[in-house]
Amino acid sequence: MATVLSVSGSPSAASRTARLLRHLDRRLTAQGHEVIPLDVRTVPAEALLGADVRHPAIVEATELFARADGVVIGTPVYKAAYSGLLKSLLDLLPQYGLVGKTVLPLATGGTTAHVLAIDYALRPVLSSMGAAHIVQGWFTLDKDIAVDDDGTLTVARGAAEALAQVVDRFSDALDGRTAPVAAAGRAA
Ligand SMILES: Cc1cc2nc3c(=O)[nH]c(=O)nc-3n(C[C@H](O)[C@H](O)[C@H](O)COP(=O)(O)O)c2cc1C
Repeated sequence: MATVLSVSGSPSAASRTARLLRHLDRRLTAQGHEVIPLDVRTVPAEALLGADVRHPAIVEATELFARADGVVIGTPVYKAAYSGLLKSLLDLLPQYGLVGKTVLPLATGGTTAHVLAIDYALRPVLSSMGAAHIVQGWFTLDKDIAVDDDGTLTVARGAAEALAQVVDRFSDALDGRTAPVAAAGRAA
């Protein structure tokens, strides 16, 4: 069993990214992993924007990263890259805060024009932080993620299948069963 930190970098209170991550968390939990959710939007803004690495919330987040064997990083695409909120937390972690960790990068976005944002924007940051193994990521179109009034999440079939596959590869990598896969993909 691995410990997985599942990080949503969306500032939105009604975030599709966060809901998608919590949905995928359940698949990882069913596979025997301990999953710890972290919504960066719950970290006090003054700590993030003031780069206060001694703030208890930043210390706690840093410890959660240190404890994790695997990290799921989910972000909405903003201006063709990851969110500034996510970057504001990553900036406060140690330079090599992902050393030895397996990472699954996920993004949601409004246009397939930015399907490669994981690869050209997020992946280099994760690499620079020393991630041991960044498995294949996935970009999901926001229109493929529906949330009912009662909070029920529905993911379009093609996207759901692709996400299940990348989550399972991540899970296998945590268990030491797979080789790295390089490219990010997108929902069909
Ligand atoms: C400020 C802002 C900028 C955005 N920029 C992009 C963009 O450049 N490319 C894109 O594909 N989607 C863009 N979007 C759409 C979001 O990435 C998309 O709706 C995403 O699923 C939102 O995730 P969330 O609900 O978790 O915040 C943008 C949305 C906002 C609010």
